[in-house]
Amino acid sequence: MGKIFMTGASGNLARVITPVLHQAGLELTLGSRQRPEVVPGGAEYTPVDLTEPAHLEAAFSGHETLILISPVVKHEVGMVENALAAARQAGVKKVVAIGIMNEAKRVQIPHFENKRRIVELIKESGLEYVILKPSFFFQNDGMVLAPLREHDVYALPIGSVGLNAVDTRDIADATLRVVTSETFDGQEIPLCSPDRCTGEGNAQVWSEVLGKEITYAGDDLGAFTAGIRNAFATTVDEWLVDDLTTMMRINQTVGNHATDHDLAASETVLGHAPRRYKDFVAETAAAF
Ligand SMILES: NC(=O)c1ccc[n+]([C@@H]2O[C@H](COP(=O)([O-])OP(=O)(O)OC[C@H]3O[C@@H](n4cnc5c(N)ncnc54)[C@H](OP(=O)(O)O)[C@@H]3O)[C@@H](O)[C@H]2O)c1
Repeated sequence: MGKIFMTGASGNLARVITPVLHQAGLELTLGSRQRPEVVPGGAEYTPVDLTEPAHLEAAFSGHETLILISPVVKHEVGMVENALAAARQAGVKKVVAIGIMNEAKRVQIPHFENKRRIVELIKESGLEYVILKPSFFFQNDGMVLAPLREHDVYALPIGSVGLNAVDTRDIADATLRVVTSETFDGQEIPLCSPDRCTGEGNAQVWSEVLGKEITYAGDDLGAFTAGIRNAFATTVDEWLVDDLTTMMRINQTVGNHATDHDLAASETVLGHAPRRYKDFVAETAAAF
């Protein structure tokens, strides 16, 4: 098959997708402003800034498929508009985009509203498309591993309603399947697991795996917001602070539940059962 261009290439998700596509023998160009830490042998890196439309057509030219991973920023929709316009001009045939599960039912969260609009734009683009819609990542636990190890607390305030979260390695597997097949063209596909993760429940899984009591730190959004602010090295992006705090409030009050249909669609696109949270925790703990 033809060459694949993937944006967001230096980010957390692309870091997991890249080796899966590379090992499958696909010709891959990685695009982001900063060079990814790992560019596998045979893959290329092309600097791209999605806010700068002028150079995007040349960057995408010669590629059959665009894997469109856009960052969670206020102007994400404009970035995607630029990418879709350039993809059309460059003769790209198909876009595989990363959205979010149940985005249209959670539009109080600004970046979910952005994703809702992005789905519309992709469907209107005239390009062949697949929109993968992952739920909350298991790997978001990476944000709270330090307090887990040092203070025996699970500090991600996801509440008690529940999120049918997903392993990013399953997103990589699904990406490979939809890129290399036409079976899923024109579809929006939720990606989730049967594990309806909650704060108390995740703390319980960590307790069982580590063989000691891990306590859920509770639903304190003030501490969560302070943690995001501290994560910014210099300037604080107030839009992102508000956005992620709102998302966590909605996680606590509404959750993000998968239906039986969502779970079946996930398993179909994966071609295997979704990875499970307890296995993710066991693997993560083994690497401590
Ligand atoms: N985390 C979750 O639970 C979750 C759940 C569902 C869906 N998602 C979606 O998953 C996607 C990927 O998430 P992630 O964790 O990989 O995000 P990430 O680590 O923040 O990566 C974002 C990527 O976007 C690039 N980027 C930022 N500004 C750019 C610009 N102006 N031009 C070009 N590239 C730019 C960044 O690279 P440079 O800075 O080098 O340009 C980076 O490669 C997002 O769309 C998110 O909404 C996440």
